[in-house]
Amino acid sequence: MTRLLLAIETSCDETAAAVVDEDLTVRSSIVASQVDLHAAFGGVVPELASRAHIEMITPIVERALVEAGVDGPQLAGVAVTSGPGLVGALLVGIATAKSLALGWGVPVVSVNHLEGHLASVYLADPAVAFPQVALLVSGGHCMLTRATAPGRYELLGETVDDSIGEAYDKVARFLGLGYPGGPVLDRLALEGADVLDFPRPMLAEGYTFSFSGLKTAVVNYVCADPGFSETDVAASFVAACMDVLVTKLRRALREFGDPALAIVGGVAASPILRARAQALADEFRTQLLIPPQSMATDNAAMIGVAGWHKLAAVGPSDSAFGPEPDLRLRFV
Ligand code: KG4
Ligand code: ZN
Repeated sequence: MTRLLLAIETSCDETAAAVVDEDLTVRSSIVASQVDLHAAFGGVVPELASRAHIEMITPIVERALVEAGVDGPQLAGVAVTSGPGLVGALLVGIATAKSLALGWGVPVVSVNHLEGHLASVYLADPAVAFPQVALLVSGGHCMLTRATAPGRYELLGETVDDSIGEAYDKVARFLGLGYPGGPVLDRLALEGADVLDFPRPMLAEGYTFSFSGLKTAVVNYVCADPGFSETDVAASFVAACMDVLVTKLRRALREFGDPALAIVGGVAASPILRARAQALADEFRTQLLIPPQSMATDNAAMIGVAGWHKLAAVGPSDSAFGPEPDLRLRFV
C-alpha cells in the first residue's frame, strides 16, 4: 500500500493541511486563507493569525484526511512547518502535529518552510533536474540559491532589506489597494504602461537584492503627483521588480550554466513573473521549474513533499523540536 504523509502549515496567515503520498502525488490539499481577517490592517496581525489558526486547524486537518480517504493511524507520519514564521502561528501547527502523531502512534517530521517552497516545484513535475538556479521570492524572503541536489543549497545572495513580496504589499497598502498586494498590483500592471522611471536597485551588485529604495521611490512619486495613474505606477513598479529579478537570474544562468531554473514562493504566482521566467528558460534552453500557480503561495502540499525528502534523508524528528521563527536554510 502506498504510504501517506499528513502535512500541516501554519507559519503565517494560511491554515493548511494536505495528504501527500510517497510518490509525491497530492491526495488532498486544503488551504484556509486569513486574508479577509488581516486585510483591514494592511498586513498580518500576529495575534489574530494565531487565534484563527487555533479555530481552523482541526476542521482543516479533518477535511484533508476525509478527502484523501485515510485514517490517522494509517499514515506514515505527520510533517509540520517548524519555521521560519510567526512564533504563535507556528506553535499551533506544531502542537497539533505532535499531539495527532502521538495519539496515532506515527512519527512526526519538522520541515523548514523555505525547503517547502523549494520543494513545491515537484508539485508541477516530479522530473526535477539538478543543479538548479533557484529563486525564492515570497512575503518574507528574496533569496537566490543554487540547489545542487535535493536538500543541498548554496546561497548566492539575498535581500539586504525588504523581500519583494513585502515591497508589493507595502506599495499596495500605500495606494490603498488592500492586502496582499501582489495579485492586485499584477492585475493593475497589465492595464498600465512602464512609463515611470523607477530605480532598479543593486542591478550591478552580484546576487544581492534591495527593494526598500524602490518602494520609497514609488511612494515619493505618488506623493508628488496627486494625478498619478494607478495602472502606470503598478506597471512601472512591477517592471522594475522584474528587471531586477531577471538580471540576477540571467547572471546566475550565465555563470553556472545549470540545466534547471526554479522559481518558488508566493510571488511565483505572478503571471508576469511566470512569463518572464519562461522566456529566460527558453533563452538559456534550461528547464523551468515552477509550482502550479495555486501552490506558489503558502500551502501544506509543499510541506508534505519536503517532509518526504527529509524522512528519506534523515528520518523522523525528535519530538522535542519547537517553533523556530528565524530558521534559515542550511547551506552546504
Ligand atoms: O509564499 P507566501 O504565500 O508567504 C510567505 O512565505 O511569505 O508569499 C506571500 C507573498 C505576498 O507578499 C504576496 O503579495 C505575494 O506573495 N503574491 C504575489 C502574487 N500572489 C501572492 N506577488 C505577485 N503576484 C502575485 N500574483
Ligand atoms: Zn511561504
